[in-house]
Amino acid sequence: MTSRNRWLVVVIFALAMAWVESAVVFYLRTMLNRIDPYQPYPLPLLHGFGEAELVRELATLIMLTAVGWLAGTSVRTRFAYFVIAFGMWDLGYYAFLKVLTGWPHSLLDWDILFLLPLPWWGPVLAPALIATLMILFGTLVTQTGPGRVPAWPRRTVWCLCAVGALLALYVFMADALRVAPQGAKALRHLLPELFDWPLFLLAIGLMALPVLALLRQPSESGTPPAEPDARRWLDHFERNRANRPEPDWTAPVTVRPGALPAVIRSLEQFQLGDGGGPASLIAINADGFRNRTPELRAIVNHWFREEAGHARLLACAVDRLGGQRIDSHWSFTAFCLCRKWLGVRFELQILTLTELVSTAYYRVLQRHVGDTPIVAMCGLILRDEAGHVAFHRNRLVSEGCSPRGFLGELWRTQFWVCGHIAATVLWISHRACLTGIGGSRVEYYQEVRRELRRFVGALAADAQKRIIRSGRGVWQRDGGPDLVNERKPMPTV
Ligand SMILES: [Fe+2]
Ligand SMILES: [Fe+2]
Repeated sequence: MTSRNRWLVVVIFALAMAWVESAVVFYLRTMLNRIDPYQPYPLPLLHGFGEAELVRELATLIMLTAVGWLAGTSVRTRFAYFVIAFGMWDLGYYAFLKVLTGWPHSLLDWDILFLLPLPWWGPVLAPALIATLMILFGTLVTQTGPGRVPAWPRRTVWCLCAVGALLALYVFMADALRVAPQGAKALRHLLPELFDWPLFLLAIGLMALPVLALLRQPSESGTPPAEPDARRWLDHFERNRANRPEPDWTAPVTVRPGALPAVIRSLEQFQLGDGGGPASLIAINADGFRNRTPELRAIVNHWFREEAGHARLLACAVDRLGGQRIDSHWSFTAFCLCRKWLGVRFELQILTLTELVSTAYYRVLQRHVGDTPIVAMCGLILRDEAGHVAFHRNRLVSEGCSPRGFLGELWRTQFWVCGHIAATVLWISHRACLTGIGGSRVEYYQEVRRELRRFVGALAADAQKRIIRSGRGVWQRDGGPDLVNERKPMPTV
């Protein structure tokens, strides 16, 4: 059975159990005329019911543990399926109780959550948040995709999560602890009035740490880690360096006069943004990536040398059109600050997306600008960017990233959303240029989507190949400049 189907069976089981639970509570509360548990004398003394309820709660936990045990194949996945079942059962319980009884009226209605060792009280929203975290955590652990090993948070994260759980327990039992010295009667009459939301939010923040840790630390591939194929990449950059036909900047300007000011403004900004800034990775932890091997450091240097080459070409174009080279712009400053402080993973993703959406820009520019040197410049830059994009794909596959499986779907979604945000930021700044030369918004976004789709599709195919190869025991390094689909023919200069 695939892990997706296994997840589904566990969820169906938990929801069926939730119906049984809510049906029992419906019968009990109807008999006792207290559909809403928050009313005077909330825990009446009824012969035999209390004991039966306590054993029923224990039996429920045993059933949830048993289904987790059967569904998982290791201690971690068994625990993960248990928490999925627990979370689904809890959310399903409230949903079905609402269907059967009309209660809870809102997520802030008080409920008695558990009876041991003292009654736990809290608004319905509180256990619902915890249940959601449980489902997320279990799903992230179990739905890692084929050939991947479930990730697991570090011990420190678990310790902080345990502190959060203890805090939450304290918040649920704070009033019971206060009246407990007055005896069982006081506990049966207890009706709390104030829920300590600030403390509970701190607790839920700590309990969310394992989920956040899993989102930050993707599951490991079952295949051995590898570096991008260094020799092939170094050869690729050397070939590119030797083959850089310079556009004829002395040729007469043939940009449509009406569009010229917008084209100049656009190229001025690109001259700064495409290689005109810092010629290296600038994230505070960039050395962790760059210094993995001397070859990787050399590849990164080649990559940024080509970017600096783009800035030089764009500066030539700006000079030729009579524009001004700029050395700062608020948007570029914000871009660099994000790159610096959000870490190298974020920086690499933001640079990949920038290269994908810039490719769309250069394509539209090349198609419509009608000026031979600028067309030639776009051709050179597009060729280089195709290599950079392929390098990023190779890098991601080497790190075990795959857009398949549940985590892969999450990654693909955020990549798609961030790609559209980057594309829109670029469009806002450069639409006057692209529409001025005869391009359109539809054409530009079509190019953006084509690039994003092609990147994710090729990444999925490469990741799959990697898994198949390692499954056969013939591990080969993926990658190298596989530019078959990406390289555009060099334009005639
Ligand atoms: Fe570039
Ligand atoms: Fe690039």
